[in-house]
Amino acid sequence: MSELASLEADVLASVEAAADEAALETVRVAALGKKGSISALLATLGKMAPDERKTQGAAINALKDKVTEALAARKVILKEAALEARLVAETVDVTLPVRVTPLEAGRIHPITQVMDELAAIFADLGFSIAEGPDIESDDYNFTKLNFPPDHPAREMHDTFFLMPDAKGERKVLRTHTSPVQVRTMLTQKPPIRVICPGRTYRCDSDQTHTPMFHQVEGLVIDKQANLGHLKWVLEEFCKAFFEVSDVKMRFRPSFFPFTEPSMEVDIQCSRKGGEIRFGEGDDWLEILGCGMVHPNVLRNCGLDPDVYQGFAWGMGIDRIAMLKYGMPDLRAFFEADVRWLTHYGFRPLDMPSLIGGLSS
Ligand code: DAH
Repeated sequence: MSELASLEADVLASVEAAADEAALETVRVAALGKKGSISALLATLGKMAPDERKTQGAAINALKDKVTEALAARKVILKEAALEARLVAETVDVTLPVRVTPLEAGRIHPITQVMDELAAIFADLGFSIAEGPDIESDDYNFTKLNFPPDHPAREMHDTFFLMPDAKGERKVLRTHTSPVQVRTMLTQKPPIRVICPGRTYRCDSDQTHTPMFHQVEGLVIDKQANLGHLKWVLEEFCKAFFEVSDVKMRFRPSFFPFTEPSMEVDIQCSRKGGEIRFGEGDDWLEILGCGMVHPNVLRNCGLDPDVYQGFAWGMGIDRIAMLKYGMPDLRAFFEADVRWLTHYGFRPLDMPSLIGGLSS
């Protein structure tokens, strides 16, 4: 057998023997690569006499073409075999349950849910949202809200005081959202219709109190805003929030330094079988404080009480969340226990709306 014929037999045998694409590539490099056996033969052509070159050249090139073709054919076969092997190995059981994505597994905290519900309800009544800082001046948290200096009402709030600053001013962690009323009246011209949801702080901790909790404040200032409007707004809110068609409310006289007259509001409920239900029954449950904004507060915020009047209310967001969703212990709200959140949390893409439903 000539040298060329035995090389051809060798190379073609290696091509056939290559078990996978990587092995085939090794065969290709060994034959046709820069230092390959066939490339080496081609390199000898330059040194041959013209006649010899003509015959040898044609023969070597024919060998090269044959090997190239064999490589390509083998490659197709190996590729198909590799795909076949993958298809056999990587079976998919389409009857398995779909894996839950992080977006599906995540949960909205009930407080965030209730804040979104409040925003949806009050936006529908023409209210916008106002916010203020958690660290507040004594002036905005108390003085401008008509708390007399050294009045026991300041102590009533179990206030967290910060260390005095360079000017001797002692800031506080706001004890209620009412200072946002002050900030709003100082910066906006009436008519004003805002709700102010946010964090509040008092030195207190038990099953229904935590040192940090949440309130929502409501404020309406206009020339004729009156108690009738306040009652209507609160009634509409309670019906929408507790998702009932009717709810009785009871207004009891009370005291807050920043309102006159001041009231506490109870709503009708039933406590049958240890379960609390709203819009039915003969029991009452206190849910908020409210009143007409005190003329001193209007004056302290640059509004003339002979021209403007208004009403305000404040309530605990955590408390109404506990009532609506039947969560017995407030402390669990702040423990970041994923099991609790999975049970009581809300699906992230279900945005509360009056049309689409608040909580479903
Ligand atoms: N700020 C009061 C509190 O934390 C709640 C409150 C009562 C707010 C009456 C009001 C209101 O705006 O009118 O106890």
